[in-house]
Amino acid sequence: MAYNLWAKNKELTLKVYIHTFGCQMNEYDSERMAGVLELAGHEMVFSEAEADAIIINTCSVRNLAEEKAYSYAGRFVVDKKVIMAGCLAETKKEELIKKFPTLHAVIGTYNFANIGKIITARKGKVLSGTAEEGYSTDVKRPGGVSGYIAIMQGCDNFCSYCIVPYARGRERSRSVKSIIAELNKMASDGFSEAILLGQNVNSYKDPETGINFSGLLKEAAKTDGIERIRFMTPHPKDISRQLVETVASVDKVCNHIHLPVQAGSDNILKAMNRKYTRQEYLEKLAMIREIIPGVCVTTDVMVGFPGESQSDFDDTVSLLEKAQFDSAYMFKYSPRTGTASYKMNDDVNKEEKARRINYVLELQKHISENINSAEIGRETTALGITTADRYKGEIEATLESGKKVFCPGDKNLIGKVFKVKLTGLKGMSFSGETVK
Ligand code: SAH
Ligand code: SF4
Ligand code: F3S
Repeated sequence: MAYNLWAKNKELTLKVYIHTFGCQMNEYDSERMAGVLELAGHEMVFSEAEADAIIINTCSVRNLAEEKAYSYAGRFVVDKKVIMAGCLAETKKEELIKKFPTLHAVIGTYNFANIGKIITARKGKVLSGTAEEGYSTDVKRPGGVSGYIAIMQGCDNFCSYCIVPYARGRERSRSVKSIIAELNKMASDGFSEAILLGQNVNSYKDPETGINFSGLLKEAAKTDGIERIRFMTPHPKDISRQLVETVASVDKVCNHIHLPVQAGSDNILKAMNRKYTRQEYLEKLAMIREIIPGVCVTTDVMVGFPGESQSDFDDTVSLLEKAQFDSAYMFKYSPRTGTASYKMNDDVNKEEKARRINYVLELQKHISENINSAEIGRETTALGITTADRYKGEIEATLESGKKVFCPGDKNLIGKVFKVKLTGLKGMSFSGETVK
């Protein structure tokens, strides 16, 4: 009897390791799960070897992300209790169970709040994304200065290449009240910076009051202790003058806008269902730069979309030259089952995709270097993040642009916003010195 009780209790408290693939939203979801698990009495551990149970938080945005999740799961699924969560788990539940029959559970993107129960359930379950769950403020972030917070879930844009609307469902905003409660918790936990996350943040709308994203930014900025606010990702079609003016006028909101363009050719933008033209994008960009002097604008670019001709690709190249982004994430098109473009002929071959991506990577590298060089001598503000491992006696800090600066200083600067003068380049980062 006593032994049975002991065995039962042992099973009720597990050592859990979470491995995260994918974007910031997945990182945040893993932190939410860690919070729920700790409340339920489980212990989070930092290696697979120590763990009784492993949660794999998966991504499905490109084929490579999927492959990584499969090979990772394959390594542990026989010896450990393995749960697959996240976007791949949501879109390929049945396939995963077939592929890995010993999986404990597949939980998708809607059941994070139930993870405490799921992990100790006797039998594995396949749970589908139906019931919406609430948010708890007990998110367990790894610590530090900067933390993620989701302000909405899902996406209604249905860009023709994208799995996200299927993996995360329809767009739904969290209430301002709930977001502010979590921001206050972050501040009391010692965070100085909050990064507001959503697949399309500028269509945010408070379900209770109707407050829009600009309104949310203004409310969020009132949180004592939160010195800086960042957000991602806005969609170009929804960038309004009001939002840009808010970024410009609210001090705590960083002057950085990540504005994915994807392509420079109208034919391709149309086939992607992006709902803006090259010209409209460039006009929005000009408005941003006019209203927020010194703003940093970054982007995402995709090459090799079905039907992308040399001349379409040349349009992307000329757009990059014209737009002069501070930096850009570049991707090769990867067909996703179930999306609209999956039915289109993936006709840009592997070699050509590689050639195109290398070309734009090289081009953007030069543009970024030129922009960064021109910033040397500038005085601006930085947020101390950590002591620099690589440079003794220096501190690593982030500028409003999100770019890194290393400058002499000690740990008193961690979590503080301070004035800095940029004195040189360190790769894609800066060296600098503090200014009184
Ligand atoms: N919600 C954001 C980000 C979505 S995913 C947005 O709308 O921009 C991040 C980036 O991955 C996208 O901007 C796109 O460039 C890229 N991406 C999405 N689906 C892809 C696919 N099927 N193949 C290659 N890249 C893709
Ligand atoms: Fe995907 Fe487009 Fe939604 Fe971004 S806006 S998540 S690219 S469907
Ligand atoms: Fe993010 Fe990948 Fe899902 S990019 S939203 S984890 S498909």
